[in-house]
Amino acid sequence: MTVQHNPKKSSFLEKKIAELEEEIRKLKTAKSEEEYFLERSEKMIQKRAAQMMSLKKKGFDTISLWGMYDQDDMKQFKSMTLPVFSTSTGAPYDSLIDGSLLLSYKTVDDPNKIYSRIDNTTIDHLALKIAALEGKNVPELTQGLCLASGMSAVFMATMPFLEVGDEFVSSNRVYGGSEQLFNVTYARMGWHVRWVDEPWDISAWEKQITDKTKFLYVESPSNPVLFVADIPALAELAHKHGIPLIVDSTIASPALMRPLELGADIVVHSVSKIMGSSGRAIAGAIVAKEKIVTNVEEYEENFVMKVKGGHYRNIGPCLHPPSAVAIWDNLNSLQVRVKAVSENAMKIAKFLETHEKIEKVNYPGLPSHPQHEVAKRLMRFEDGTPGYSHLMSFEIRGGFEAAVRFAQIFDFGVQVTDLGRDYTTWVHPASTTHGQMTEEMKRRAGIPDNLIRYSVGLESADDAIEALDRALSQI
Ligand SMILES: Cc1ncc(COP(=O)(O)O)c(C=O)c1O
Repeated sequence: MTVQHNPKKSSFLEKKIAELEEEIRKLKTAKSEEEYFLERSEKMIQKRAAQMMSLKKKGFDTISLWGMYDQDDMKQFKSMTLPVFSTSTGAPYDSLIDGSLLLSYKTVDDPNKIYSRIDNTTIDHLALKIAALEGKNVPELTQGLCLASGMSAVFMATMPFLEVGDEFVSSNRVYGGSEQLFNVTYARMGWHVRWVDEPWDISAWEKQITDKTKFLYVESPSNPVLFVADIPALAELAHKHGIPLIVDSTIASPALMRPLELGADIVVHSVSKIMGSSGRAIAGAIVAKEKIVTNVEEYEENFVMKVKGGHYRNIGPCLHPPSAVAIWDNLNSLQVRVKAVSENAMKIAKFLETHEKIEKVNYPGLPSHPQHEVAKRLMRFEDGTPGYSHLMSFEIRGGFEAAVRFAQIFDFGVQVTDLGRDYTTWVHPASTTHGQMTEEMKRRAGIPDNLIRYSVGLESADDAIEALDRALSQI
């Protein structure tokens, strides 16, 4: 069978003609070369914003597969998969004026024309995808920035707000690296963290807020004790005091919880974890609403874009493009994976909770978890079914010695400082991830010496249960 050729102009030709006519109109009406580039850039910004708004209306799995890399991009780059622009810099400027406008941030039309510390097409596409996932049900625009690691994302989401003498309030249930950043590095800068020891109590947060407070910071669910924050209540408190709520949502991922939708202003991720579950890359991300509540006037609008054009460019924590594309590919199946590991985790948590050698299991899916009701309300897949993530921790009866013995004999998964992998991974936090914390800080953060952090993988849950039972019976 042959295709019938229509003697009339096809819709393809009509579209091409319209595009060329628009380009000619712009060239003719521009008073100067500068004006031409400014108009071109403005059009690109508007197109991106419109694309983002319509993408956010799509289903979660569609967004996580396609992002904004559409068929036009595939044609332009001659590649169905997102290309790895592993390059220090991209295409030459169209003219000197074009380059001068680009590097003075007056235009933003093509990320691939800029030095990769500042912008890069591959990294930009990853940031757009994550911004759309996190902003799925957020009515306004959401903007994203990808960085070299989760820690650089925590840093870049928080430091812009702080000047010498400023304070911020944080839950003390945070990842050991964030605790060190706040307690050690920030102290040297003259930035003071006020820890909340009982982060489930909103009044405990309010007591720490002073007129120097620049933001509230919470990690939810937290690593490794799985504290789950009431984000809508915290956002309300933050906004009452005119400050933003910043949430580290690494463990939930946007498949299970989207803090911006729940009232938060800024989300940070260690993208190195479940979002990049194959474990091929270290990466971080920040996503913020276009307008946030803050008492630092310059960041009321376009926080992410201002950081990107300012501190991010100056400090240089850029992501490596091959890492960006590894994460991009992992994101394609995010919700499917999070569902599978959450189901496995639920079975394993239930098994452990009834085991005689186990003192306590921290898993938000168990009714015994102190914030189970909060988790049930906030952690849900797109279809409304609750899910509680891949991460849990448990305390072994017999104290430090029993946990060390377990670590010596347990032969399932991988014993590493890592989580969110396709493989099961587990670790003894008191002697590894949280080893730098003082005894007092560990006690206050609820990390006992007999705790094992356990990140559930895609292996059959029955195999994990059999191995856990075997190891525990030998203690
Ligand atoms: C909750 C959380 N936030 C931030 C980080 C830091 O991320 P990265 O290792 O990618 O720098 C981690 C690392 O384990 C984490 O678990």
